[in-house]
Amino acid sequence: MTEAQLQRIRDWFLAFVEGFRKESVPLPTAIAVKLEHTRHVAENAREIARDLRWTPEDVRLAEALGWLHDVGRFAQFAEYGHLQDATSVDHGLRGLEIVRASGILAPMPDHRRGCLLDGIRHHNARTISPAAAPASLPFLKLIRDADKLDIFRVVLAGIARDGFQELAGLWPNLALDGPVNPRLQDEIRTHRHGDVAHVHSLADFLLLEASWIYDLHYAPTRERVRRDGVLKALAAHLPDDPATRKILDDLRIFLAGADSFGVARGRKPEQRPC
Ligand SMILES: [Fe+2]
Repeated sequence: MTEAQLQRIRDWFLAFVEGFRKESVPLPTAIAVKLEHTRHVAENAREIARDLRWTPEDVRLAEALGWLHDVGRFAQFAEYGHLQDATSVDHGLRGLEIVRASGILAPMPDHRRGCLLDGIRHHNARTISPAAAPASLPFLKLIRDADKLDIFRVVLAGIARDGFQELAGLWPNLALDGPVNPRLQDEIRTHRHGDVAHVHSLADFLLLEASWIYDLHYAPTRERVRRDGVLKALAAHLPDDPATRKILDDLRIFLAGADSFGVARGRKPEQRPC
């Protein structure tokens, strides 16, 4: 991807978001939060791709995917008033439809366009989708990492700002002071995964987020999680019960040992796109 193509995609995205502003009124909070999130994800994607020593063309493609990955969120909020896929629409699929219909990627070669479309479509799936083309996988993994990295930031900032009260409205039926769901704890302890359907409280939400650390694909992403003290910050807002402590201890051990031989320590390049 050229710098001019990246600029065109960035401009298209910013104009698309402006479409959600009503006259001179400020952007709705959810839209503003998602705009800021998108800026950070684009930056994360670019920086992680650079750390992975991808080519400048691939670094630009990674950044473009950051700008486009959550396009479906804006339409989802406009149509449903919240950001819960289970009770509205799969925002990855919605984003794919919007970007396809826009024609913004039409000038690109098929295989490069496919990387972006697969990244948008599958970035929010619970696991890597077998439907994604093999050539798309490095970019799909990258956007999933860049996205999670910024969701950590958004959630922790929301807790620091007002105890998550404003953001909680975007996830209907999330109890800010509810207990941790033992079923979710069992899932994470056993499978390193939790089902979002078992998230009923902010504590559940934070525990599920902590478990995402197992799903990070690239060493530079985990390096940022360590650098930013994400796990410690999440743990500070979780209840101190034996099951939660065990999950957090397992995560600390995983995070400390995951990259003993990884690229983050200046070793071999990892998962370079073809
Ligand atoms: Fe998303």
